[in-house]
Amino acid sequence: MKQDKILVIDLGSTENTNIAREIRDLGVFTEIHPHDLTGEQLAQLTNVKGIILNGGPNRVVDGIKIEASAALLNAGVPVLPVDHNGAPPWPKDAGERRKQIQEFVFGQCQAETNWNIENFIAEQVALIRQQVGQEKVLLALSGGVDSSVVAALLIRAMGKQLTCVHVNHGLLRKGEPEQVVQVFRDELGANLVYVNAVDRFLDKLSGVADPEEKRRIIGSEFIRVFEDEARKLEDVKFLAQGTIYPDIIESGTKTVKAVKSHHNVGGLPEDLEFELIEPLKMLFKDEVRNCGLALGLPESMVFRQPFPGPGLGVRCIGAISRERLEAVRESDAILQEEFEKADLAGKVWQYFTVVPDLRSVGVKNHERSYEWPVILRAVNTVDAMTASIEPIPYEVLETITHRITHEVPGINRVLYDLTPKPTGTIEWE
Ligand code: XMP
Repeated sequence: MKQDKILVIDLGSTENTNIAREIRDLGVFTEIHPHDLTGEQLAQLTNVKGIILNGGPNRVVDGIKIEASAALLNAGVPVLPVDHNGAPPWPKDAGERRKQIQEFVFGQCQAETNWNIENFIAEQVALIRQQVGQEKVLLALSGGVDSSVVAALLIRAMGKQLTCVHVNHGLLRKGEPEQVVQVFRDELGANLVYVNAVDRFLDKLSGVADPEEKRRIIGSEFIRVFEDEARKLEDVKFLAQGTIYPDIIESGTKTVKAVKSHHNVGGLPEDLEFELIEPLKMLFKDEVRNCGLALGLPESMVFRQPFPGPGLGVRCIGAISRERLEAVRESDAILQEEFEKADLAGKVWQYFTVVPDLRSVGVKNHERSYEWPVILRAVNTVDAMTASIEPIPYEVLETITHRITHEVPGINRVLYDLTPKPTGTIEWE
């Protein structure tokens, strides 16, 4: 399939991702590449219609001003040079900038609008079939957005040649493992191995209070469980992963050091010796969601808020006990329900509950109680590096407080955390 392509070349701009997003929104595919792309690498990129040299504040690296490679300058397609007189590379006004991009993409480059999710799915299905042939593929399906969309795409491409392994480590939100089984096994007919590893994880975590130690145990135990399951399957040649474009961009470019390393549960060791398939690696998050919807996944799965790999484990503060973990899960479900009723669910970036390891005195059913508090957290952010607090309407807070203190065993108080990031982090651990 012919797909026109515009290259955004990183010459130290902080806007590479935004420019790329804007071009894709116009219906034209675009990729971000480093300034030193060689002729050989360029030759492998098909249908390149134009090149944007995207300069910016990080153009000087280790004291040297970086320049675009000769291959890029002599590519024989229109080149848009920006940032030579030190002026801001793009007009500040969003409308002006869009006009400038449109003029370049459609006027000078004559690119056609042939980038859309249906074409993407058709192309990936063909590519996956070609790459995999009759071989078997394995996927760690957490139920998060990215792994769910990869699963749906691979099921479309190759049905039962794919085996999904879902590890329930006991730290998932209420109803999540059940939804994974229902959507993938019952509705999409996937080959799904469901592993109930709740006791295994909680036993390992018993008495461990240090947050980083908890993360380490959850991560390494996940790998062990997954390896055990992978070894039971015969002749698996490929491993699919839900890597998406921001994971690649954020892991560092040649002009900016890594923004943050990704410490996901599910980072699998290299000695598993599979060939990797990463069909979403060129998609931005909203495109991944569109892809999931186009493949028939439910909105409740596709529009999930971000959820940390160690799950509720980092929201049950200190050493995890089963009772307190259930209090986190139940209170989180109530918060979710009330946010949906109040029409806040799709508007707030991340919201959840935390249960610290401390108790306070209260009164319940005319008797003294000595129980835990639930802390509510609701934040908005663009990149999770800083975050502001969502002002939840007072009546909603009252309803949530009433429900949690009356419906969740072991809880007698509800607190609302008003701390932005910084000085707090989004999670409590
Ligand atoms: P913090 O707490 O660092 O969180 O302000 C920023 C974002 O990252 C998520 N987070 C994690 N995600 N593994 C993950 O996959 C982790 O260990 C982890 N810790 C925090 C957090 O939910 C928020 O969206």
